[in-house]
Amino acid sequence: MATELIDGYGRVHRDLRISVTDRCNFRCTYCMPEEGMEWLDRSAILSFEEIERIARILVERYGFESIRLTGGEPTIRAHLPLLIEKLAALGIEVALTTNASALTTMAQDLVDAGLSRINISLDTLKPERFVALTKRDRFDEVMQGISAAQAVGLDPVKINAVVMRGINDDEIVEFAHWGRDNGLVIRFIEFMPLDAQGEWTNDTVVTYDEILSQISARWELEPLVRGSSPADRFRYVDGGGEIGIVASVTQNFCHACDRVRLTAEGQLRNCLFSMDDWDLRATVRSGGSDDDIARIIEEAVGAKWEGHRINQVHFIRPSKSMSQIGG
Ligand code: 5AD
Ligand code: SF4
Repeated sequence: MATELIDGYGRVHRDLRISVTDRCNFRCTYCMPEEGMEWLDRSAILSFEEIERIARILVERYGFESIRLTGGEPTIRAHLPLLIEKLAALGIEVALTTNASALTTMAQDLVDAGLSRINISLDTLKPERFVALTKRDRFDEVMQGISAAQAVGLDPVKINAVVMRGINDDEIVEFAHWGRDNGLVIRFIEFMPLDAQGEWTNDTVVTYDEILSQISARWELEPLVRGSSPADRFRYVDGGGEIGIVASVTQNFCHACDRVRLTAEGQLRNCLFSMDDWDLRATVRSGGSDDDIARIIEEAVGAKWEGHRINQVHFIRPSKSMSQIGG
């Protein structure tokens, strides 16, 4: 029988994100420097067996119901479908966050392995801007990857667009249009202070209110029930589908957070903005028991803060970027 994994504020944790690699074939400006990335050694990264073991403990002991695989870029990790198969066999939903560049070749294998949900990161619909933002000329491949995900029956396909002032905030309505036309759920995300270059300031955040008012000036929207999703969801009253807005900065949803994160090197993190890691890899590799691992998991969740402090003077930017923590 599973017990609940509860933190000091009564939040029950049921959702796990696993970064399967710190590497990426893109160089999104807010995520990685163009050059000089130092990747983890292969031996530093958890094996599929190690990942499965930790996931199994979370599922069997604490009733976790879903796992999302992230990176870096998760499709870079060799034999990813094999991992999906192992995790799906635990009886949970397996989701993936990807840049879509590999989906034309991999989408079918991912679904056959048991993938149930997909989020695709895409911050612009303009090919030249795409090159500027990702430092890679692969816009067409990404578009084809999105179609491939739809063609193999992944539904809904969600698009994560991080909105940044002066960079892509002129594309909000265009994104909404494109989503409606193509049956995609666009999730607009407020830019968070986790950028590799440290270029984030409060002014670069295009707020939830701004995003919502631009879209609702064009189409009538109706709020949907949120559940534990960090996105505030809306449907188009005319039947044009759905959008989400993730107000990570202006309206934090920490009070409903049910998530823990496992980095590629096997460190458990209780928050994106956490200053600490709990080293599961060391315990796993030194012959620790399931009870030892469970004890560390409980300790990490028990130490969780009430919420992040982005808007407070005491906010300290974590030294890790999104690609190292895993989105
Ligand atoms: N703010 C908001 N979202 C971010 N992502 C990466 N860095 C940031 C940031 N600083 C997004 C990516 C991807 C997901 C894993 O996180 O675009 O969609
Ligand atoms: Fe790669 Fe995603 Fe980082 Fe872009 S945001 S460089 S696609 S890991």
